[in-house]
Amino acid sequence: MKNKVGVVGGAGHIGLPFSCYIQNKGIDTLIIDTNNDILELIKNKITPFIEYDLQNHLDHAINNGLQTTLDLNEIKDCNIVIITLGTSSDKHVIKKFNQLIDDVISKITQGSTIILRSTVTLNTINKIIEDKTFNTKKLHLYYCPERIAEGKAFLELDKIPQIIGSKDKIESDLILNFFNELNIKTISVNFEEAVFIKLFLNTYRYSQFSTINYFDNIASTNSLDFKKLLGIASESYPRLENVPDSGMVGGPCLIKDSHTFIDSFDDPRGLISKYFEINKDFIKNIITKCESKFDSKKIVQLGLTFKPESDDLRDSQSIELNKSLIKEGYEVKTYDPFINSEEELSKIMEFSNNILISTHHKIFDSYDFTDKKVVIVGDK
Ligand SMILES: NC(=O)c1ccc[n+]([C@@H]2O[C@H](COP(=O)([O-])OP(=O)(O)OC[C@H]3O[C@@H](n4cnc5c(N)ncnc54)[C@H](O)[C@@H]3O)[C@@H](O)[C@H]2O)c1
Repeated sequence: MKNKVGVVGGAGHIGLPFSCYIQNKGIDTLIIDTNNDILELIKNKITPFIEYDLQNHLDHAINNGLQTTLDLNEIKDCNIVIITLGTSSDKHVIKKFNQLIDDVISKITQGSTIILRSTVTLNTINKIIEDKTFNTKKLHLYYCPERIAEGKAFLELDKIPQIIGSKDKIESDLILNFFNELNIKTISVNFEEAVFIKLFLNTYRYSQFSTINYFDNIASTNSLDFKKLLGIASESYPRLENVPDSGMVGGPCLIKDSHTFIDSFDDPRGLISKYFEINKDFIKNIITKCESKFDSKKIVQLGLTFKPESDDLRDSQSIELNKSLIKEGYEVKTYDPFINSEEELSKIMEFSNNILISTHHKIFDSYDFTDKKVVIVGDK
């Protein structure tokens, strides 16, 4: 039987690239999403957010028959339903997610397969496999977490092995054949192992960024220039080759997944909780740098998105920094080339000679900062 796949939440940052990818591998794909504005963009081959090579893949996917709908009832025609909704440890978000899962279970056809691609907890998984209707309908559940970095979907989708979490063992060849058809290598584990792997990855990444920020905080307290020292320490030094620069650490995954890791597996020595505090201190550290470098409380803040070369503002620490600056009595005008129009730039730059680059988009390196006082947060 030929697969027909429904991707619920398929207009989002994870759902859309994946939907395009599978449609372009010849699998009939239907995006189901509640955001009508974004569905209209997709139908018209307009990319709703920045993602490397998405335009090319979207054009092909629509030409190849990628479908979209607002109507969840249409999953009855799909033998595989993939869930890519946003998740977090926030109670309201969990409630909405569970509600959606209940709806999917009630509308999906007997014997079909549900793939969870959103980041979820073991509680969520257990709730599904213990559900009466889920069992009466003889549905199958797999947890196949997405592990790409936002912006790199088409560079990483067929390079990173797919973790497949299942109850005891994989119940049918369908799931293995599905990823095989997509040219994606698979690794099978149980549900709990899959949950741990996904949450560990992002929590560990968060810890790496936080650790370097910790040293930046300490260096600043000792009036040392951490950027300069890290540059010297890592020059031609193999053991610091992959060390990240200090900088803002936010976005839709790292912070929330670290919270979810603690909720799911505990934090016996309080180490992970410390990372949140360190990053709050890092914001204070930046404000102290501004105080010592700038000659007034007027600032032009450049870069607001959660990471460079992205248009995603979710959980951006540059926005948190902006709020803290305003609380401290600074007047701040902001500009981000991925959010604002270029015409706004010159007017904003006239506001002050004090420049704070908080999210370091590449284009800022071409700006002329002659006669300006500049504080840069993060180079990489
Ligand atoms: N963004 C990343 O880089 C990334 C990386 C790996 C994993 N993840 C995980 O993937 C999941 C999705 O994240 P995202 O960044 O794509 O989120 P997103 O907010 O970009 O996308 C979620 C989509 O779900 C839709 N939606 C919400 N409620 C719905 C409903 N009831 N029915 C149908 N559609 C609905 C929204 O309209 C949106 O288009 C999360 O669990 C996240 O942790 C994200």
